Amino acid sequence: MLSQQQLKQQAADAALEFVDAVAAPDVVIGVGTGSTADLFIDGLARFKGRIGATVASSERSAQRLAGHGLKVLNLNEVGTMPIYVDGADEIDARLHMIKGGGGALTREKIVASVAERFICIADESKLVERMGKFPLPVEVIPMAREAVARRLAQLGGQPHLREGFVTDNGNVILDVSGLQITDACALEARINNFAGVVTCGLFAIAGADVALLATQSGIRRLDRPAA
Ligand code: 5RP
Repeated sequence: MLSQQQLKQQAADAALEFVDAVAAPDVVIGVGTGSTADLFIDGLARFKGRIGATVASSERSAQRLAGHGLKVLNLNEVGTMPIYVDGADEIDARLHMIKGGGGALTREKIVASVAERFICIADESKLVERMGKFPLPVEVIPMAREAVARRLAQLGGQPHLREGFVTDNGNVILDVSGLQITDACALEARINNFAGVVTCGLFAIAGADVALLATQSGIRRLDRPAA
């Protein structure tokens, strides 16, 4: 029986095959944040010299990449990247996701938006029929915290401030439990439109393109269904 850590490792290794397929001296790889992304970063170290550079979705991942001697660029220096690799807190069969358990959701969404393909890596426990059991992280400008919390409560959610946590952008996170996510794209757009919200952790309007889900019997690959 493989442990969750071994499953995460398997998912990270599977994503390295995608890196192998696109590796070239001018190629930039987008890198996510979290414990599964950390394993991907450690594996990416062996591509030093075969890829041009990386872009990280958090200061934490940037430090880990640099620690391996990989070049880390500012996103403003990058026009495009073939893949962005990151984990998820929940993912459904349409490859919609909830992300932000590590608080890096905004930078994750931004870096992913520049990549041609989002490769989600996770153990199979993250695959859900319907999202919402994992509290939805919402990054909020500090002065809008209470105003946004009231709007989220009107949607039926119970927002909780992530105590003692400040994002890389200097903002706070509200973790919202109890939301009924029936139309993830509509809910993502609605919450993102509340004044004071930087972004919410729903990645549905632009979800993953490929999910590499590690199971006890190997990698299960899901591709985004045609719209
Ligand atoms: C960080 C994220 C992570 O991708 C998500 O929390 C999954 O993390 P892990 O790989 O540690 O389970 O969105 O903001």
